[in-house]
Amino acid sequence: MNGRDLVRSVKAVNLSDAALRVRMVRSAWRRRRVDAVGLAPRGAERARTPGPVTMVEPGPGGGVVRFARSELRVRVTSGGAVFWGWDGAEPGPSSALVGGSPEADPRAVLEPDKEGGWRVVAERATVVVSRLGAVELRTPGGVMLRRDLPPRWWEPVGGGTARWVQRSHVAADARFFGLGGRAAGPRLRNGTYVLWNTDPGGSFGPGDDPLYITMPVQLVVADGGTHLVFHDNTWDGTVTLREGEEGAGSGHDRMGSCEVRMEGGPLRCWAMVGAPARVLHSWASLTGAPAVPPTWALGHHHARWGFGSEREVRRIVAGYQERGLPLDAVHLDIDHFDAHQVFTVDRERFPSLPKLAADLRGDGIRLVSIVDPAVKAEPGNAVYDSGTAADAFVRDAAGRVVRGVVWPGDAVFPDFTAGRVRKWWSGQYDERLAQGFAGFWHDMNEPVSFAAFGETTLPLSARHALDGRGGDHREAHNVYALGMARAGYEGMRELRPGERPFLFSRSGWAGMQRYGGTWSGDVATGWPGLRASLSLVLGLGLCGVPYSGPDVGGFDGSPSPELYLRWFQLGAYLPLFRTHAALRAGRREPWEFGPEVLEHARAALVERRRLLPYFVTLAHLARRSGAPYVRPLWWGSPEDRALRDCEDAFLLGDCLLVAPVLSQGVTRREVRLPPGRWYDTVTGRAYEGPGQVSVDAPLSRIPVLARAGSVLPVRGADGRLALDVWAPGPGRAGGGLVIPDPGDGWDEPELQRFAVRWSDGRVLVERDGEDEAAVEYPVRVLGLDAPGAPRAPEQASP
Ligand code: NOJ
Repeated sequence: MNGRDLVRSVKAVNLSDAALRVRMVRSAWRRRRVDAVGLAPRGAERARTPGPVTMVEPGPGGGVVRFARSELRVRVTSGGAVFWGWDGAEPGPSSALVGGSPEADPRAVLEPDKEGGWRVVAERATVVVSRLGAVELRTPGGVMLRRDLPPRWWEPVGGGTARWVQRSHVAADARFFGLGGRAAGPRLRNGTYVLWNTDPGGSFGPGDDPLYITMPVQLVVADGGTHLVFHDNTWDGTVTLREGEEGAGSGHDRMGSCEVRMEGGPLRCWAMVGAPARVLHSWASLTGAPAVPPTWALGHHHARWGFGSEREVRRIVAGYQERGLPLDAVHLDIDHFDAHQVFTVDRERFPSLPKLAADLRGDGIRLVSIVDPAVKAEPGNAVYDSGTAADAFVRDAAGRVVRGVVWPGDAVFPDFTAGRVRKWWSGQYDERLAQGFAGFWHDMNEPVSFAAFGETTLPLSARHALDGRGGDHREAHNVYALGMARAGYEGMRELRPGERPFLFSRSGWAGMQRYGGTWSGDVATGWPGLRASLSLVLGLGLCGVPYSGPDVGGFDGSPSPELYLRWFQLGAYLPLFRTHAALRAGRREPWEFGPEVLEHARAALVERRRLLPYFVTLAHLARRSGAPYVRPLWWGSPEDRALRDCEDAFLLGDCLLVAPVLSQGVTRREVRLPPGRWYDTVTGRAYEGPGQVSVDAPLSRIPVLARAGSVLPVRGADGRLALDVWAPGPGRAGGGLVIPDPGDGWDEPELQRFAVRWSDGRVLVERDGEDEAAVEYPVRVLGLDAPGAPRAPEQASP
């Protein structure tokens, strides 16, 4: 037995529940037996490399280069993304791609390169294939960004999927980001990262890896350029990263390296080259635009595992209302289910949920429901019965329905990789909507099945439809939650066609942003957990999933008032702003930490509400451009090495730089600024970047700086949209985009452009090149000592 797995399981459930403990032992044995029969041992393997080039076949966007023992398809697509796949791999079928493979760029052609190699020159990247199958990705200017060495496969002699390894080199100064949600990032240090969606059990900190969302997506940032690579393969695998070292003055740089190893599945990859914004735009074009949450979901949410009753929910809501604290959503966890069974209600403790929902709705508060994939395996349970009739549940290799154990006890698992099962599951949300829920929180979908030993998931040999291709859990595991998200999203679109769905999911994979967002999962209460929450949000944003946030205060235990407050202040600037905690954890309401914390938390809540129009704008911009709301400081200046290594602050859109307090006792902190002028939004002091400045971070707030020239849409005192304009430096200009809230339906919002410039000693704000009169919103110009007098900045130190 793997000690870590046991610890995980023990942490995950309440072991005082003896019946559950027994089930976990039985389930672990069952899983082992099923795999012993259903999973053929690997047996003898034969290693293979491509060998030398034999011929080429030009084709759309590139062509096929044939080698003695493999072939490589290279295809540049019209969006600028480049595909290459070995052994005949094509872009499809793929769970990540939206709308099939993008069209080939007819201008990209395969042409001979030196020493018997071949190359495809395209507008945004050049791909060079060597005679022995090394593949280089270069910028249009010829700078090498990545060099894949010829891959190596190990094929089972008796047939079956081959394991493979792909080693690559990147520049010595390159930094790695991404790989899904990683607690120890956002900069991914040297080490091996597992690609297998995993519930760490209990709670996690920066040392825990992998977590719930893993993705073979790397964003690599170097002086020479930024690129994203995506190995489109859902199998179990690892990525080993090693940053390079620059030989100070000696000229002996050691390049950075990356090694992707997969236990099976195709060796195919997508690459995108360009500025970070452009790369993320290409990524969203390839894998889908991020869903825009309804506006209320950009406000404040309060969740709790263990409200336990309607009365308690009303008590908490009243607590917010009596204190005048903004609240937009309340989330009900598994304790409101009847004996933990999904799509049911405990009618004793929640006797009139629709009434509760309607009352809250009357106060502008939405109710969100947790949804777990596991269905209690018990005839009489309506979901079990209808799922059984629909043949919806995952089966083992012998054709028996796989049983695991989750909160309700023995449970079965829908196969979300089958279209007909997704359709069936979609229909289940009807029950939730009838209860008055407005949004959904998908949990436990890695998927988790508790086990006393072994892995806490389904048997690896479990069969899945994989949309007609058929396969086992080794291939389906990482996309299980993606399929669940799709089912939930499509269900809501059908059941409530006039509303944008609100859905966020603990697990997922590349492309999950099409259906909604995610959250940090069970982040451990403590200062390291606070730091990990920021790492997760940043890393996921760079993988195309822009909407996420942590459990404010941490999932377990009891945060100190200071830690709670600092978490709250960070959360107020993250897309999903939600307090949540475990069943036996301490309180998380802002008034439970004393009057001082309450006042400062109130300030954070009020500021979040004031910034709502900005969050709305960022959500719609994310859909149009793929740019995450929360961006690393190097977003606009990837060539700045100091910014590349800065992990304790972030940009919120184009306008704001947020510098959270991530350590105990800190009331002043260093902030690294990107180039340009920045204003402390509270003190009004101006700083000239790039470089480092020291700013006040009293307990009452975290430092937030505004970029000179920016146009920040805010909610004015009358509740209507207003613009905060931060003065550009003298002789400089600025501007910004605003997307007024189009409501929670599907109306295409108007994108408004504003320009800011100095004219006759005044800061002028104009709309779309029209004159000042065309600005229909109240404008507040900030960052001036007096009208017409720009504030002198302090120079940041290098
Ligand atoms: C695990 C989730 O991560 C957590 O947020 C939730 O409270 C529990 N499951 C109970 O549903």
